[in-house]
Amino acid sequence: MSYEQVASHRYMVFDGRRNAAYVRALEKIITPDSVVLDIGAGLGVLGLFAAKLGAKKVYLVEPESVIEVARKAAAASGLTNVECIRAPLEELTLDIRADVIISVFTGNMLFGEDLLPTLFQARDRFLAPGGVMLPDAARLMVTPVSAPEGYEHHVSGWDDFPALCEEHKLPALDYSGARSFAANTLVYDMGSKYTQEPLAEPAKALELDLATATEAACNTSAEVTISTQGTAHGWQSWFSMRLAGEWYSTARADGPTHWSETFLPLAEPLPVHPGDVLGIRLSRPEYGEWSWITHYGDGQQRQSSFLSRPLAPADLVKKAASYKPVRNERGRAAARALELMNGEHSVAEIAAIMVNEFPAVYPDQPAAMRLLRGLVQQLS
Ligand SMILES: C[S@@+](CC[C@H](N)C(=O)[O-])C[C@H]1O[C@@H](n2cnc3c(N)ncnc32)[C@H](O)[C@@H]1O
Repeated sequence: MSYEQVASHRYMVFDGRRNAAYVRALEKIITPDSVVLDIGAGLGVLGLFAAKLGAKKVYLVEPESVIEVARKAAAASGLTNVECIRAPLEELTLDIRADVIISVFTGNMLFGEDLLPTLFQARDRFLAPGGVMLPDAARLMVTPVSAPEGYEHHVSGWDDFPALCEEHKLPALDYSGARSFAANTLVYDMGSKYTQEPLAEPAKALELDLATATEAACNTSAEVTISTQGTAHGWQSWFSMRLAGEWYSTARADGPTHWSETFLPLAEPLPVHPGDVLGIRLSRPEYGEWSWITHYGDGQQRQSSFLSRPLAPADLVKKAASYKPVRNERGRAAARALELMNGEHSVAEIAAIMVNEFPAVYPDQPAAMRLLRGLVQQLS
């Protein structure tokens, strides 16, 4: 998700059920002496609620320029106890200890956005002894589901392209080769379009104590006993988080929220019967790919988001930690541009040099300016 756009924050700002859960928690813990740090504040909505509830001081920390909207909202809401800081948490140099750290760093399937390492750093550097984290714990939940239409749309439908050709009188083509990629692809929010029936009571795959955790990798397993006869098409997953003692669930069944449930398909649908035991082994290294292995009886299906896209041998080699990269022409151009970013040349001058020295990569000034704007934004 791009957090640069104000529009992409709307879903969070307008998530009334979520906001109410945070406000209930804030009401329990905010006092007139509270110093609050809202990390990844976005448009600041949660920190601003804390300010409204009478905290002494609220710091909103956000790396994107959308923090300007938070600044406006604070002023428009008559709040004078708020300071907006545009920075990634890792570059924050505030000499404070916060009584409360607010965060929304649990992405879909908890680990999805790789923000937990930033949360751990915030806790270790800025939380006062005895301070409160909101949330301070999170759970990853799973249940096998029957989802025939969603499965047909996202996975098995790739086998049916000839039928579409016939229906529309097109020359027949065969796209069944795409199915295995689809079966290794996580699907978000499938339940908003297609019916899904849980086949067992949900199981807790993992509980993370955010007050003490240091690892943002997932390596866990869960088992369920099937309660309903049917066909399992995959696993549905969601998370819950604890806000001052109250659990907030992002399951569709528990109410509307901006978070999506995640569907982890099976490679092949699996008929199940009451009493059958189904297990899932779920893992994801930090900044890595999800793997899910489904166990049943003496069978298993192994899947990974790593297999969700075709990877040529050359791409695979580059993913190895032992690979020793050599810059290509584009890399040489970027390195030269960085060298020229030394305070002596304007962006337009550097672009002109790039066009002259790397015409194969930057045939004209606008193309070179596009590269440079990205580099200048991020690295100067
Ligand atoms: C899920 S959004 C939450 C936004 C806001 N707290 C809300 O609830 O509406 C996560 C935010 O964290 C910010 N973020 C990402 N990396 C960050 C970092 N290293 N330090 C601080 N904030 C970060 C993103 O730009 C984004 O605005």
